[in-house]
Amino acid sequence: MVKIVIQKKIKDFDKVIRVDSDKSLSIRSLLIGSQSYGLCKIKNLSKSGDILSTIKGLKKLGVKIKFKEKVCYVYGNGLNGFNYKKNISIDAGNSGTFARLILGLLVRAPYALKIIGDKSLSKRDFLRITSPLEEFGVKFKKAKKNGLPLKIIGSEYLKPIVYHEKKGSAQCKSSVMFAALNTPGKTIIIAKKSRDHTELFLKYLNLPIKIKKKKKLDIIEILGEKQFKSFNYLVPGDISSSAFFIVLTLMSKNSKLLIKDVNINHSRTGFITIINRMGAKVKFINKRKICGENVADIFVKSQKNFKSINCPIKLNSNAIDEFLIIFLLASKASGISKFKKLEELDKKESPRLQLASKILKKMGVKVILRNGSIKIFGNPYLSVKKEILIKDYRKDHRIFMTSVIASLVLGGKWVIEDIDSYKSSFPSFFKIIKKIGYKL
Ligand code: S3P
Repeated sequence: MVKIVIQKKIKDFDKVIRVDSDKSLSIRSLLIGSQSYGLCKIKNLSKSGDILSTIKGLKKLGVKIKFKEKVCYVYGNGLNGFNYKKNISIDAGNSGTFARLILGLLVRAPYALKIIGDKSLSKRDFLRITSPLEEFGVKFKKAKKNGLPLKIIGSEYLKPIVYHEKKGSAQCKSSVMFAALNTPGKTIIIAKKSRDHTELFLKYLNLPIKIKKKKKLDIIEILGEKQFKSFNYLVPGDISSSAFFIVLTLMSKNSKLLIKDVNINHSRTGFITIINRMGAKVKFINKRKICGENVADIFVKSQKNFKSINCPIKLNSNAIDEFLIIFLLASKASGISKFKKLEELDKKESPRLQLASKILKKMGVKVILRNGSIKIFGNPYLSVKKEILIKDYRKDHRIFMTSVIASLVLGGKWVIEDIDSYKSSFPSFFKIIKKIGYKL
């Protein structure tokens, strides 16, 4: 458990940066690539811990994956083409996305296999995945509290299902979509809005998928068992990683930042909508489409005043990974910000809503937390004078990075334990902090 101590604020900066590649798209490109026939070429794949767990897991399932001159080559064996030994276990590390999505691809698994994960992942809920997959005809041996380890026993006799996804979880939706690819007939998914990367990916590959967009739901129909050819893919930058540097710039003095080549899929930009409503003026420039996804450069300047927000619930799932850093901005806004129906935040890598409330209180911010809702009493003059210790946060990468950004803009002395936490999603985090002029 190595810790970092930060005790000075960041100075003015004016820089151009690139963040690590998108985690959701990196994992999807590897998983979907493994199901194709032939050699996939994936450029700019993220090198974060979650992606390394995905690669290791796929290799154990018999998928050949190689790197040459920064390009990742995935040798797909087609749908249901995994080839592995009996009694193996797949270690998903810290990655909820890999653990949950791979289950969808294992519905036909010829031998039972075990999914394990680190301490944080083992505590997360897998009932949300096992329940719909059981309807397809898959069997599971579950852990006591529906976490990990979990044993999946695939079936040759799968039947398509009609699935109502009610949490607004892209992981649940995508896992069922992957199961549908391996199941004969038409699977129908009626899903509360959530990130739609899997839909866009399958469309990019011209697979038989139909999507009807309603106001609050999407109805997705997938015809299964259609083999598809390998593909080329270019992974753009991650907006969730960009969010830390956007807020760092906004809350610093006289600074400017241009973040190149970031995925701005509409189902991921809730964060930008929220902070722009709070008074930020974040701009997308040079917008373009790459492999079915919208990409742009993001420009942001520091600002003096921020307004509080009564955050619309409909933005929750589009900003789900960014709430911690949004709460930091809210702590410096004038007025009381309100965020409701965020129970899902407590089901992430750590109980994020609980921990955010504790950390904000340590910073001297008044917070009221009740039944998944949080009220943050902002103070435009907020600064930290004392020592703040961040520990026991289940090595949650986003808690770690939010704490570092808070220390750089609010001052005080911050001691943050478990320094490796950020690597599961954003290994270049400190390199970028150095690039924008901070000496660690
Ligand atoms: C993800 C979906 C979200 C998000 C996670 C990545 C994905 O989780 O929090 O970091 O890639 O589908 P939920 O589906 O649980 O909301």
